[in-house]
Amino acid sequence: MGTPERGRRKENAGTEPPLDSGHAGFAGRMPTPAPGMMTAMDGRTQPRRIAVSADFWDHLPFDMRGEAFRTDPYAAYARLRAEGPVLAPGEGVVLVTGYHAGVGALGDPRFGLGGGALEAQSFLLVDPPEHRCRRARVSAPFSARAVERLRPAIRHRTAGLVRAAAVRGEAEVVADFAVPLALELICAVVGVPLEDRPRWYGALAGLSLAFVPTGLLAEEDAARLTAARLEFAHYLRTLIEERRRAPQDDLVSALLAQGPEDTPLDEQDIITAIGQFVVAGHQPVVLQMANGAHALLRHPEQLDRLRADPSRAAAVVEEVMRYDPSIHLISRIALRDADIAGRHVPAGTVVGVLPGAANRDPRAFADSDRFDIARSPQHLALGRGTHFCLGAHLVRLQAQALFAALARYRPALTGEAVPRRMSGVLWGTERLPVVLTERPSDGDEDGGGGGGGDGDGD
Ligand code: HEM
Repeated sequence: MGTPERGRRKENAGTEPPLDSGHAGFAGRMPTPAPGMMTAMDGRTQPRRIAVSADFWDHLPFDMRGEAFRTDPYAAYARLRAEGPVLAPGEGVVLVTGYHAGVGALGDPRFGLGGGALEAQSFLLVDPPEHRCRRARVSAPFSARAVERLRPAIRHRTAGLVRAAAVRGEAEVVADFAVPLALELICAVVGVPLEDRPRWYGALAGLSLAFVPTGLLAEEDAARLTAARLEFAHYLRTLIEERRRAPQDDLVSALLAQGPEDTPLDEQDIITAIGQFVVAGHQPVVLQMANGAHALLRHPEQLDRLRADPSRAAAVVEEVMRYDPSIHLISRIALRDADIAGRHVPAGTVVGVLPGAANRDPRAFADSDRFDIARSPQHLALGRGTHFCLGAHLVRLQAQALFAALARYRPALTGEAVPRRMSGVLWGTERLPVVLTERPSDGDEDGGGGGGGDGDGD
């Protein structure tokens, strides 16, 4: 595996290869080949297949740039689902709106990422068998056992932030809770020292622009993204040197460690890999926690049920991810002729699975548009199959802690507008002002809730 990768990188020596999002298959940064051609894995150009680039977005039966869709995608999804679980809106493109069809497509090895420029830009955006080796190399810090060790610290930190806001009697959920908690989560896993974390706030916000597809990114944002990448890569070089000298129990050290079978990873491989995790593990978490808080606040009777029984927190997180996920597109390429729910899908077709649509499929969920914490559902918010979210345990733990801590203070909406938007493939609540109306009567500072475990043991 290593050699062809290395060969190509030499070609680009001196230019910063992009740090791209973890979440497979969307919005990869494609080098711009001549019209009708595309850049293949070995750098040569070849006749274009419909790649996951601007073309894909233009083929969608809704305007990703349109205000109507960007402020309420669920209305568009309901219309699409009525047309069928698998749609072909344009030549070479298939959309999956149905839950069972989505499970089928994401679990089917005939659909993959198909190599190309994406593979060069990320650590896990590759197809099996290479994917298995790479994932095995980085899984330890994300395992249920490793993440469970973080629970007391995460719960304590979360309860502390909410308690401090309760003194003020009000808070803005995104800025006061979701952003700092998501940042600490990813910094803890990567191994960023506490004193360096404030510096990452700015860089991470810029890096999250990686979720905006090439054709949809404004020029000034593209410049911000490049600047954030350069700064981030520069910082990581120092951290890598430190961990080479003194390994620790973190992701950087895990990537530096090398088993007898492992392909050696050079500095750039490690920067690219960390970049993927950091982008994958920040903005989707911020938005998911904000979406969850928003859903609970809009359904005070559900919030009261959680307050009365904090052990429901794990089920609340699953229902929140079903009802209002933060990632709204998972894409694949048909590696050979295949089919989804009986519909023929020719090789080379770009397949877009819409978790926001599939998670509210009435063929899979009774009363699918109703938010109900008694459900504890399966869903596609974290993907399925080969590329199932590596950070699943982390985000579940963090979201459980926040929802349980918030519920103890009986938060309420202030009546101010709550902006919710689609940015590229990320959907969510951008700002959520609340008042915290009560103080917990049990005097338990960290709150016993945030129910244990999250079902997916590994
Ligand atoms: C609410 C927050 C999150 C959501 C909604 C989310 C969603 C997803 C989805 C849908 C996929 C599958 C993509 C595909 O199949 O192509 C995925 C993969 C991935 N996620 Fe997450 N994720 C979240 C948080 C995190 C966190 C906290 C991390 C790590 C720090 C993370 C790291 C990854 C990685 C590395 C992959 C690629 C796995 C692979 O290709 O094998 N994610 N995530």
